This record gives sequence, C-alpha cells and structure tokens, in this order.
Amino acid sequence: MEVIIVPTPTDVGRVAAAKIADVVARRASPVIGFATGSSPQHLYADLHRRVEAGVISFATARGFALDEYAGIPPAHPQSYASVIARDVVSPLGFDPARVHVPDGRATDLRGAAADYEAAIDAAGGIDIQILGIGSNGHIGFNEPTSSLASRTRIKTLAQRTREDNARFFDSPADVPRHCITQGLGTILDARELLLVAQGEAKADAIAATVEGPLGAMVPGTALQLHPHATVVVDEAAASKLRLSDYYRYTYSHKPAWQRFE
Ligand code: F6R
Repeated sequence: MEVIIVPTPTDVGRVAAAKIADVVARRASPVIGFATGSSPQHLYADLHRRVEAGVISFATARGFALDEYAGIPPAHPQSYASVIARDVVSPLGFDPARVHVPDGRATDLRGAAADYEAAIDAAGGIDIQILGIGSNGHIGFNEPTSSLASRTRIKTLAQRTREDNARFFDSPADVPRHCITQGLGTILDARELLLVAQGEAKADAIAATVEGPLGAMVPGTALQLHPHATVVVDEAAASKLRLSDYYRYTYSHKPAWQRFE
C-alpha cells in the first residue's frame, strides 16, 4: 500500500487527480469507480479544473458508483444517482449513458445487485476505484463485519453512518436504513484502489485501515489485500499513523519513473 501524506485537503485532491489522470492516459476507454460524500470533492474539483484546461477528457470513459441508498427515488437530491450526476457526470463531461449507479428502487434488489456485478464485468472491470472511508472504517457501505469476500448486495446502514450522513438530509429520520453497495470482494477486483481522506474525524479509521490487523471489523483493512492501493490523506487524517515518517520518506524518495505527478 502506498500512503501519501500531504498538507491540506486541496493537496489531497491534486495528488489523487494526478493518479486518475495517469490511469486515464494509459487506457483508451478507462473504467472509473466513484465514491460519493465529502471525501472526493477536492478530487472531483481538481479533475474538473483539468477538464476545463483541456488536459484530460472523460469522453470515452465509463463509470460505476460504489453504492446507492435503497428506497429513495433517483431524482431525490441526495440519491447517489443525483449526486454522481451533479458532482461527476456533468462537471467532468462523462456521457450519462456510460455511468452506472446501483438501482436502489428496484423491486428486486437482489436482482439489481447481480445485474450491477454483471455490468461491471461486461465493462471489463474497474480500472481505478475511488474510495472514501467512514468514521467507522466502512468503504462503500460495507459496514463493520462485512465479509471480506462480499459482492454487491443489500446492506443495513450502521447507526453511526446514518448519524454521519444526517447532514445531507432535512432530518436524521430521513436518512435511509438500507443501501445497495459494491462488496469488499467487488472493490478488491478493481485493478487499482485510490482512497482519499481528510480531517481528524477520519484519523482513527485511517490508522486502523493502514496499520491495524486485517479484519472485518474495519472493512477498510481489505485494502491490505490489494497489490495496487494508494491512500492519499491530509495531515489531520494522517495524525494517528505510527509510521508516518516512513511514508513521507518513501514518497520523497520515490524513483522518478514511478511517480504519477
Ligand atoms: C459513499 C461511500 C462511503 C463514503 C464514506 C465517507 O459512496 O462510498 O464509503 O466514502 O461514508 O463519507 P464522507 O466522505 O462524506 O465522509
């Protein structure tokens, strides 16, 4: 796992965007996995800047969201279908027909989850999966005790996740209780993983993910099983890492041929 510690959230966005740009430059039709929420906002803003400057294009790219709330209509402003359309598809110039979000309104949610797995396969798999992390260590909506081998499926949101996400809704009671999420096994199938985090509230989850024992109680630790996982964090999110000096040393001595920015 490569851990990159940078001073500010803006730097997190810049470095993570450089990583995406590197993948996009190597693929004729890149397939990108999207996280929603606050964590990737600086990353999406930096990519938007690059699109505006004409140095990157997503015209031939495809995309898959990590997750979707169950039971709220796609047109709801906080559905992940709406968030992805607003934060990703439109500013980055994706073809909306090439960007997929799990169907949280399907009458057959199991079938919708299986169809989502099949769609990812049909696209040739995900080249790079963008991830945020919950304060309880979840990635996607794989809450603690999710199987490390899980596939896309229905999950019940942890109370802590519902409290954390209440800020997006008019009232805490409006936060859905269920979701469809890519599983940890699905996430691990992506060719590269890119996790971004900023702020003190993520420091425990980042320390456990990077340095803690592998285990279902901290789903983020699944990254330890992936051969190409990059974690980009600001100083606050890195503040509980024990080996931060080593990560800084490693990054500053990275050979030029291995750098992506
Ligand atoms: C959402 C997702 C979640 C979030 C996590 C952090 O698509 O995959 O794992 O990344 O809940 O949320 P924020 O970034 O809002 O703190």
